[in-house]
Amino acid sequence: ENEKAINCLNKIKQLPEETYNLLKLVGKVGDSLDKKVYVVGGFVRDLLLKRENYDVDIVVEGDGVLFAEELNQKLQGKLLVHEAFGTASIRLEKNNVIDIVSARREYYEYPAALPKVEKSSIWNDLFRRDFTINCMAIQLNTESFGKLIDYFDGLQDMKHRRIRVLYNLSFIEDPTRIFRAIRFAARMDFTIENETKNFMMEAIRDHMIEKVSDDRIREEISPMLEDENFIKYILSMQAFNLFEAIDPDLVLTKESIKKLSSIQSAIDAFREFFSIIPSVRRIIITGIFRDFPMDRLHDVLTKFVANKQLATNIYHTLENKENIYQLLTKEDVDRFTLYRVLNQHDLEDLIFYYNDCEDGYIKHYIMYYMLHLKNIKLSMSGEDLINLNIKPGPIYKKVLESVLKAKVSGEIYNKDDEINYAYDLYQELKGEENV
Ligand code: CTP
Repeated sequence: ENEKAINCLNKIKQLPEETYNLLKLVGKVGDSLDKKVYVVGGFVRDLLLKRENYDVDIVVEGDGVLFAEELNQKLQGKLLVHEAFGTASIRLEKNNVIDIVSARREYYEYPAALPKVEKSSIWNDLFRRDFTINCMAIQLNTESFGKLIDYFDGLQDMKHRRIRVLYNLSFIEDPTRIFRAIRFAARMDFTIENETKNFMMEAIRDHMIEKVSDDRIREEISPMLEDENFIKYILSMQAFNLFEAIDPDLVLTKESIKKLSSIQSAIDAFREFFSIIPSVRRIIITGIFRDFPMDRLHDVLTKFVANKQLATNIYHTLENKENIYQLLTKEDVDRFTLYRVLNQHDLEDLIFYYNDCEDGYIKHYIMYYMLHLKNIKLSMSGEDLINLNIKPGPIYKKVLESVLKAKVSGEIYNKDDEINYAYDLYQELKGEENV
């Protein structure tokens, strides 16, 4: 066993006091049960990188459920036991969660002729994991508190800022790791080590992505699109041909990549108009599906969005795209036409169209609409028509629409104007009817 006598005590001492005390306590409970206990995975990685991480994953070489029960005696949190998996979680007051698992006691069977190599359970637990930087543990038992367990040179890879798998079949066994590699590399500014990169490309070429369920794909992609550096993830996915692996029709052209790259500056151009924050994710996904065949769009969108309404919105944005561009690629679009066309669209649509179109007129019109028309609303209502002694009926809609048109066109400005305009119009219409 290639244990390095590196001690992380100093790093642990820099954690918030609560976390430090928690780790100490976990060690003590381990002592009392005479079991080795470790904090593992992302927590250790982030501790070494000095990144905040409040998810504490604990591995016990022994009965994880029993351990969790003992620990919760002291913590008095909310204990949830998954008996079948031998795992448990404790939810603490501040919504911090401690996950506890039993180190798997599966030993690899070797032919009898060979000497039996027995690995510790923590070794087995770490060996099942994805990347070397996620395969480190820190022992918490009092006598060894802070001792780093690093069988696979995770620390070395961390120093070289690289993502490396432990064995060649890693991506075949768990293809979601393909997304994770991209996510970690982009998020932490690491590179994917060359051999690992080759394993990844092989797995993609061998259609391993097809084995990943829509739900899993979505769970892996969502955090990438929510990151402000989303374009980094998209470029990396594109470099691995991942979009086409997700669906053969999902081909991102140079043009669509260019458009995706400028989404952020389009959003910035709109920033002064924000009263509600637009969903950047929605705009990005619309951009990803920009050239996708409409007849398959609904089916494949489920790999990116779970929410049906959101999927429908994205569908409509793309469905209306050409129509809108056609209506607005003219020199002399009047204010009311512009209002009518764009008023039916959400902020996300407008930002998408503004960014997506090539035509200067369209960009100009969208900005003009945002600046001058978007907030125009009638101040008067049906109530005011009743006060004018106009008999309710279909004529209400007609009158109110005309008043709105006059207001959008800049002929009238305030509520008095509106009421006068409505009154005059009503007289006119009434006159026509009498003729
Ligand atoms: N893991 C794995 N293979 C996966 C998912 C997870 O080996 N497909 C292991 C890794 O050791 C990882 C740990 O499980 O560190 C916890 O996974 P998760 O909570 O998903 O990720 P974190 O590493 O904590 O990363 P994040 O900060 O993104 O939550």
